[in-house]
Amino acid sequence: MAYGWDESAEAWIASMGESGDFSRACVLDKPMLQRVRLGDFTSALDVGCGEGRFSRMLRGLGVPTIGIDPTAKLIDEALRHDPDGNYQMGRAEDLRFSNDAFDLVVSYLTLIDIPDAAKAIAEMTRVLKPGGRLLIANLTSFGTAGDGWSDEPQPRFCIDHYLDVRELLSEWDGIRITNWHRPLSYYMRLLLDEGLILRYFDEPRPYGGKPAVADKYQRVPWLMLMEWEKP
Ligand SMILES: C[S@@+](CC[C@H](N)C(=O)[O-])C[C@H]1O[C@@H](n2cnc3c(N)ncnc32)[C@H](O)[C@@H]1O
Repeated sequence: MAYGWDESAEAWIASMGESGDFSRACVLDKPMLQRVRLGDFTSALDVGCGEGRFSRMLRGLGVPTIGIDPTAKLIDEALRHDPDGNYQMGRAEDLRFSNDAFDLVVSYLTLIDIPDAAKAIAEMTRVLKPGGRLLIANLTSFGTAGDGWSDEPQPRFCIDHYLDVRELLSEWDGIRITNWHRPLSYYMRLLLDEGLILRYFDEPRPYGGKPAVADKYQRVPWLMLMEWEKP
């Protein structure tokens, strides 16, 4: 089977279930929602919304939200869960919205999936109102540079070729997709070059789930959260 989101959509929907995978349900959702609650936002764009789980959470907090994603099967699934929601096909690199349209733009574990991160970050900034926030959850670059766990002489996680940008072929639970490894400085430079101001940064700890899984998430820098303001 080929690598890609179209081919992996059904397996992705199954892996998300109702409450999301470990990274979402046990690490990222709480701090992401906390940032949203602090912001008093009136209009959100969820870029790469997938099957719409986080868009539904934003709507549950009373924030009118548009979710966009290039994968038709995921947009169909988002609409099936939330027929009154606004879910549209679209790519981060070419957002079909006017300048200054939203006071919150969310990228929830999508920067690693987006082929042209520079265009995507420029577009996400363009559609933000001045004073608006770009809320990003991403895999850490230390994690995406990982070669995985080795068990000898004792369990440890190996990182290599950290500074080299590269495509990663990722495969788990029937999902086969391409991700990108980019060092942290690559993302930071793009965000700073857009004139954005960093207002919040965290590498959240797991807050539940199976202890053995949580232990692995604490040993390896795996997930991060950033909130940037458009001046
Ligand atoms: C790891 S999933 C995250 C989905 C959702 N945000 C979540 O957290 O459940 C990555 C998503 O990015 C989408 N995607 C891939 N390329 C994209 C692009 N160029 N622009 C926007 N989204 C993209 C995929 O279709 C997929 O739904």
